[in-house]
Amino acid sequence: MSEASETSEAAGPGAEAGAEAEAAAGAAAGTAAEAAAPAPSAPGFANYQNDIYLNGLDGQLPPFTTDLTLLGASAREHLDPGAFGYLAGAAGSGATHRANREAFDRHRLVPRMLRGATQRDLTTTVLGTRMPAPVLLAPVGVQSIIHPDGELATARAAASLGVPIVLSTASSHTIEEVAEASGPDSARWFQLYWPNDDDVCVSILERARRAGFTTLVVTLDTWTLAWRPQDLDQSYLPFIRGIGTAVPFSDPAFRSALEKPPEDDVISAVLRWVPMFTGTDHSWDQLAFLREHWDGPIVLKGVLHPDDARKAADAGMDGIVVSNHGGRQVDGAIASLDALPGIVEAVGDRLEVLFDSGVRTGSDVLKALALGARAVLVGRPYAYGLAHGGEDGVRHVLRSLLADLDLTLGLSGHRTPAELSAGSLQGGV
Ligand code: FNR
Repeated sequence: MSEASETSEAAGPGAEAGAEAEAAAGAAAGTAAEAAAPAPSAPGFANYQNDIYLNGLDGQLPPFTTDLTLLGASAREHLDPGAFGYLAGAAGSGATHRANREAFDRHRLVPRMLRGATQRDLTTTVLGTRMPAPVLLAPVGVQSIIHPDGELATARAAASLGVPIVLSTASSHTIEEVAEASGPDSARWFQLYWPNDDDVCVSILERARRAGFTTLVVTLDTWTLAWRPQDLDQSYLPFIRGIGTAVPFSDPAFRSALEKPPEDDVISAVLRWVPMFTGTDHSWDQLAFLREHWDGPIVLKGVLHPDDARKAADAGMDGIVVSNHGGRQVDGAIASLDALPGIVEAVGDRLEVLFDSGVRTGSDVLKALALGARAVLVGRPYAYGLAHGGEDGVRHVLRSLLADLDLTLGLSGHRTPAELSAGSLQGGV
């Protein structure tokens, strides 16, 4: 049975669904059913369920599906074929993209009962960043191909819920514009595609620090683009059209080496940027350079081998993201979830282990946390939300994911993310 049909069955008519709807209605009406309704955890993510059912009494439906596994298919209707291929596509045959989801499906939670999980607290702090749930928005570049407001819409939606963003170097808006859209109090990290020009690199890092980005996420797995048939077959690469280049094109160190500014000669600017941020691999000893020029925490994204995780710890890094870039880089690579336990075992006590690739549901988040991740990053789902409805679309996706996470945490017998362990999973101890 597919995930989609499982979901629709669960939402269909039946005693349980009826009882839940009643509880939701009761909560709003202040009746005795209030006691049976899900008690809000700070800050009450589960209440999104109540809102949706109550709006249904007025004939109002959610803006689009609450089943985040279905969003890829419907996003196609909102996007040009090139943009859709770039967003939904993967490397090679897509084997690793599929493996990410299959790995989640192989792991099963074993719910526990009567554990007083009415009140829940999802808040957590990672590398000094307080967050309302152990969820961050993964860096997704070139968001203007998805929606004209791009990263600005995403930043606003995330800030409205307190969810941290990780801004990509390949953003279609500048670092400063995104910081302003986020607002002064929002949590924001910056993702670096490591340019092979030190002056430009330092300048970008300084701008990110000045704009209030606290943690640096250095992506290691995309020093050159993988073989991506969806993009190749359409000859579609946004960067060579000067899209997703706002960070370098607004950078004083980058601009100073150009004869004409990018506004007047986009081709020359593109020809300088593309080989600067793609095509050059770095080495472990070069991390000292980043440490010298970034005084906040540094996280390495794209780690899949325990030995690389140990090297990250040896290099004095503060965290890693276990990630295969959503299956977009090495086709045939290990599923990110399958790489997680070995890495946690190797370095879990030495640095923060974050996770991404394939997270679509609340239960996926719980599984990654149970296998030792401190928090997860979510990529395509929120970008699909952006395609469906800009800022509101991103907010709907985040509220859906967080409500699902909140409810599934409680229904599986946990009150906080910290209570999850391998013992929360089938076969775990
Ligand atoms: C990405 N990802 C990414 N990662 C990064 O470090 N910098 C970037 O600019 C981008 N850009 C980007 C664009 C698009 C369209 C996608 C789908 C992904 C990878 C991203 O941060 C994350 O690792 C994956 O998206 C996680 O997998 P899921 O959640 O998409 O399955």
